[in-house]
Formats: sequence, structure tokens, C-alpha cells
Amino acid sequence: MNIVPVKLGARSYEVRIGEGLIDRAGAEIAPLLRRKRVAVVTDETVAALHLPRLEAALAAEGIAVQALALPPGEGTKGWAQFARCVEWLLEAKVERKDVVVALGGGVIGDLVGFAAAVLRRGVRFVQIPTTLLAQVDSSVGGKTGINTAQGKNLVGAFHQPSLVLADIGALGTLTARDFLAGYGEVVKYGLLGDPLFFEWLEVEGPALAAGDVQARLKAVTRSVEMKAGIVERDETEEGERALLNLGHTFCHALEKATGFGDRLLHGEGVAVGCALAFELSQRLGLCAQEAPSRVRAHLRAMGMKVDLADIPGDLPGAEALMALMAQDKKVVDGKLRFILARGIGQAFVADDVPGDVVTALLRDALASR
Ligand code: GLY
Repeated sequence: MNIVPVKLGARSYEVRIGEGLIDRAGAEIAPLLRRKRVAVVTDETVAALHLPRLEAALAAEGIAVQALALPPGEGTKGWAQFARCVEWLLEAKVERKDVVVALGGGVIGDLVGFAAAVLRRGVRFVQIPTTLLAQVDSSVGGKTGINTAQGKNLVGAFHQPSLVLADIGALGTLTARDFLAGYGEVVKYGLLGDPLFFEWLEVEGPALAAGDVQARLKAVTRSVEMKAGIVERDETEEGERALLNLGHTFCHALEKATGFGDRLLHGEGVAVGCALAFELSQRLGLCAQEAPSRVRAHLRAMGMKVDLADIPGDLPGAEALMALMAQDKKVVDGKLRFILARGIGQAFVADDVPGDVVTALLRDALASR
């Protein structure tokens, strides 16, 4: 097992990463408990795959469990299921000193974390992320929340977990597509701040996707180390934490254009967005052509979506995509904020990206569809 500490003073915690952690969860969680009971919230898909093992692990330590399984999917991450979850936790008589466990992917982690943040003005919670995306990104760093009709993640709280248990074995139950979507976030860490990690992924990526446990352990550990470092330096995203949004401005526009559904998964959008962000950096004279070429070559070698042409169905024109991007961006005098890069592993926040260069980039990318 690898342990990555997240050092945030009184809110510090560990991310423990290893194979079979769900089977050991009782022993891992027991030291946190004031009384031997926990409430577990999961979704129906994850419950079928992992809940009996988690319940057995908790029972082996004499910990009583109450469990709630919500419907799977992004639609769950809204007011209706949030209210259901909070009311269920109250009915389960979860008290201030108790611990709530979130077992699942990003939707469950974000929703249950937010429920824990507001329940009795805040109770502790443990994240047991079961997807690659949740293990390397959403379970670490304390961003919790839900979507509303106005947009994604607009209601929420910073509420750090008390422990994260990332069971590498759970990744074996993911579809190849879901695994690769999560891999988009792994690549992002190399691209934003660690060129040697990116180089390692270029070599080991295929083994990792094929199921190599040691490679998976290393990739998740390095990703979590990088995220932990950034969160320690900038917990509430005043500056550096924004680097974690590399590729996300393009991604959010493409997700909106494709209806946040099966046509483009979030991690796929991140990969396409990273390729576009490097292309934009090159067009702005910030990095050599070699950088976007390497990014694209690696994503292609992994069988991932790289270009707008890889997204099935129609896409709106460049101006419409720009309008979608401007919706959640501050546009000042036609200038936009993007995460750009001076090379692989050298991302930075740019506040003055000329809109016309982005429009031209999108126009060219759409023309090659
Ligand atoms: N997923 C981006 C962040 O945690 O800041």
C-alpha cells in the first residue's frame, strides 16, 4: 500500500492506495470511529460490485453498517437525490461524531461529501473511490457539490475527507472506455507539472490500460501526490489549483455541446481539451510544435479521443463553442483565461488569451472533422 499525506493542518488526512483495500476497509476505518457504526452511501451499480465486500470488511471489525444505494449516473448529482441522501442520513441517526462513507465514482463522492459537509453543520466522511477518475482527482482535495439547472458544480462546499481508500483492484471492474476516460486526468498531471511522469506514461500507458497492477499503483500514486501538493499550497483555488483545470475550458464547452452524456465522457473531454490547450499554446508561440504533437501521439497510441473528429454526431460552429466557453469565463476586452503550457509539464494560468486565436483554432479543428 502507498500512502500519500494531504497536509492541511487540522484537516490533514491520508490517501491510501493499494490492491484489495475495500477488503481491509474495516481495519482502516475503525481508528476513526467513536462508536462502531457507519453509514455508507453508494450507487446501485457500485453496490452490486463492491458493497457486500465492504460490509463484510466492516463487520469483521464489529462495525455496524447502514447502506443507501442511489441510482447511477450524473443525473443523481442534483437537489432531489441530495435531499434524499441527507434525509436518509438523518433518519439513520448519524451524529456529529459519526463517519459517513462514500463508495463510488465522482458523482457519489461529490454528492455524499456535500451531504457530509452540511449534515449537522458537518460530519466526517471517508472516500472509497472506485473509478480511476475519482481515485486520481475528485476524491482528493475536498471539492464537494451538486449540479443545478444553471450548471455543473454550482452548489457545494470545500469539505475535506478524513481518509481516502483507493482500491486499485476496483479499477478492474471498469469498462475500457471508463478506464481510459479516467486516464485523461492521469495524463493531465504529467502535462501540467511533471514531464518525467508523462515520459513514463508514454512507455507504461499501454501496460497500465491492460491491467498491470504495479503500473496502476504508480500512476494513481503519482497523480495523487501531485494533486495533494497543489491542494496543500492552494486549498480554495486562489491561484495554483486552477492548473488542475488544464484542458477543462474546452472540455466544458464540448460537454455542454454534446449534452453531458455518452457522446463525450468528462475524462474524454479533458483529453481532447488538453490536446487543444497545447495546440493553442503553440499557436501563441509559447511552446514548440513538438509539444502538441507528443500529446496527440500519446493519446492516439492509447486509443483515446484526441480530435473533435473523434466526437460522434454534430458539433456547433466555432463561434457557438466560443459562446459556450464564455458562459463560465470572465471575458475582458475579448481576452479569455486559459491554462496554457510552455512545454510538457510546464502549465501556467494565462488571463489574456485573445479570443480570435481561440476561434481560429476551433474553426480549423472543426474543419478537419
Ligand atoms: N478537479 C479539480 C480540483 O479539484 O480542483
